[in-house]
Amino acid sequence: CSDKYFFHHGLMLPKATHTDASLKFAADFQFNDDDIVIATYPKSGTTWMQEIVPLMVNGGDLTPVQTIPNWNRVPWLEEMVLADVIGTLKSPRMLVTHLPYHLMPSSFFSSRAKVIYVARNPKDVLVSSYHFHKMAIFLDDPGTFQEFNDIFLKGRVMFGKWTDHVKSWRHTDLGDRVLYATYDEMVQNLRGTVGEFSTFLGTNLSEETLQGIADHCCFKNMSANSMSNYSLVPKEYMDPSVSPFLRKGIVGDWKNHFTPEEDLQFSACINEDMKGESYSFPWS
Ligand code: PPS
Repeated sequence: CSDKYFFHHGLMLPKATHTDASLKFAADFQFNDDDIVIATYPKSGTTWMQEIVPLMVNGGDLTPVQTIPNWNRVPWLEEMVLADVIGTLKSPRMLVTHLPYHLMPSSFFSSRAKVIYVARNPKDVLVSSYHFHKMAIFLDDPGTFQEFNDIFLKGRVMFGKWTDHVKSWRHTDLGDRVLYATYDEMVQNLRGTVGEFSTFLGTNLSEETLQGIADHCCFKNMSANSMSNYSLVPKEYMDPSVSPFLRKGIVGDWKNHFTPEEDLQFSACINEDMKGESYSFPWS
């Protein structure tokens, strides 16, 4: 890999956001039973969940999402920022992680912390990631779409193979501590998905509040929220003139990027990796 990345237990991570110290902090992190974890492979709905879950936990109060940047509001377990903001997090604490299940800290397994795992059609993940790599200066240039497609399928990208990530979080002994959701269902029926999250987290919110949260979290509103659209990030790290972080927010943009051959090859590769898995996704 290039000098922009390093390996942690075989997982390729960007140096700009992850360090040995941040990973040690994560490994030693003590989970509380009421912590809420959002787990995702990159570009699968993380930022969206960093908006939805705080709203739910705060009874629909917009203050946190309008005053605290998403990375401080719901920090990444494995990134440097957690050590700085840990003291500001109130119970129930909310964290996001891109770590695969087996790299979660040991205290997570013995806690009762709940997890929402959000997956997205890997074809759209690839497209979103491709544009993100173009605008994120701290990541390698993705090259051509075909070149990036190739390294994505081989797992030579940050956080490794999409299929390994999804499988790791599906093969857990978390029981009722985990809820599986998809970006694709959220796009199709946000109000319904927000209702499922509320039931899972036991937030007991009125119909009106749930509808208000779904309305607030539409792509248009989040794109306009400087606390959630990454416009606060210095231009040396991300250049929104190349591509905004909240880029399109749709399902199926892969159809504008894949040739029919690439589509066949991509599907065959993912299907091969997913052979024998018993669950299904809205896109498969
Ligand atoms: S990251 O870098 O892992 O935190 O990225 P992540 O937030 O997981 O994924 C970014 C994509 O999520 C889209 N997004 C949304 N789509 C629909 N509605 C809302 N509210 C929303 N918020 C974020 C974002 O636009 C990225 O997808 P693409 O396809 O690139 O637009």
